Amino acid sequence: TGHTTLDYGFVNTAATQSAITYIDGDAGILRYRGYPIEELAEQKSFLDVAYLLIYGELPSADELGEFDTRIRRHTLLHEDLRRFFDSLPRDAHPMSALSSAVSALSTYYAADHDPHDPRRVELQTIRLLAKLPVIAAYAHKKSIGQAFLYPDNSLSFVENYLKLNFGLMAEEYELNPVMVKALERLLILHADHEQNASTSTVRLVGSTEANLFASVSAGIHALSGPLHGGANEAVLTMLRSIQESGEGVQRFVERVKRKEQGVRLMGFGHRVYKNYDPRAKLVKSSADEVLEALGVSDPLLDIAKELEQVALNDDYFIERKLYPNVDFYTGVIYKAMGFPERMFTVLFAIGRLPGWIAHWREMIDDPQTKIGRPQQLYVGPGERHI
Ligand code: CMC
Repeated sequence: TGHTTLDYGFVNTAATQSAITYIDGDAGILRYRGYPIEELAEQKSFLDVAYLLIYGELPSADELGEFDTRIRRHTLLHEDLRRFFDSLPRDAHPMSALSSAVSALSTYYAADHDPHDPRRVELQTIRLLAKLPVIAAYAHKKSIGQAFLYPDNSLSFVENYLKLNFGLMAEEYELNPVMVKALERLLILHADHEQNASTSTVRLVGSTEANLFASVSAGIHALSGPLHGGANEAVLTMLRSIQESGEGVQRFVERVKRKEQGVRLMGFGHRVYKNYDPRAKLVKSSADEVLEALGVSDPLLDIAKELEQVALNDDYFIERKLYPNVDFYTGVIYKAMGFPERMFTVLFAIGRLPGWIAHWREMIDDPQTKIGRPQQLYVGPGERHI
């Protein structure tokens, strides 16, 4: 209060206190509720981590079992919402389909939107966690013109999603344990990242006491941009264009350094990490393992590695402290799993959902929360008359 500071992009301004995620960008440290990301990715399931983010502690076996059962009970979409996808064009981007369907979801459970009724907030939390993967899979099926499957509640969260996404009506879907494990790990790495653009969006929308689904739908839109979650798709586009043009990694990097038409090295750089992104380290080590286990060899992975080496040894990137971020290697893994590029950011959204929910709930529960309302410095004309 009192005076206004100009801070484009909120580089220096904290908008909230938070007890969820800790990042030390200079040291390359990321912890969820105090636990290092490396330990969680190695030892825990995605639902363990979702529980940790939302409720603050890792679940006991019983607590996890109960959480899982509640989620499995809510996976079905209303039949009318299934048909909602019919109204979208066939070539709708799955990210747009995802946010639209989550927005539509808010019309179904309007009786439970009260943000100050903990029982209802809990119910909406479970509904959203259960239904987002189903919506994500339908967004995919829609984009390739295949029939939607119904969720199979004998399967775990990740297994169910993979079956809905890749399974076919008349065929048994065989789950690949390598894929299940790898996806579980990738979702954990995406599960929260404190006040990033999409989470800040969820909080800002939620600060008006708009409902959870509306807030998350807005967050999905924010995530879709290429400077945020959309970067994983953009990395693949970049790698492929380097491959197809045959221009070579070195010449591409020269163009980035000349800032030719704003071309950036996608998957590099981060607002808070001025060191190797700890998530990128884990993803990079997964990439080799997963491709080998799936029996895929992809020249794009070689281009990515070469690009990383060239950039890490170049003064332009060294001076600006630009390192690979989480999105740099994820696309290569998703591609090896069989996901089309347009689905990459949708996978990010499924991973980030627990973080969005945790922040929305933390914000609602914080007595200091006020409606988000930035100041501006007015630079337009002074008073004038017609
Ligand atoms: N390639 C080339 N130059 C870059 C890059 C890049 N990827 N990122 C930053 N720079 C340069 C930028 O041009 C500027 O140089 P100069 O000082 O000469 O003008 C300097 O580095 C600082 O950049 P900035 O844009 O002020 O940094 P920021 O903190 O505002 O932006 C960022 C962070 C992530 C938006 C940016 O690094 C970027 O655009 N990266 C590429 C997109 C990307 O990979 N995004 C995913 C982020 S991680 C996960 C997620 O959030 O989804």
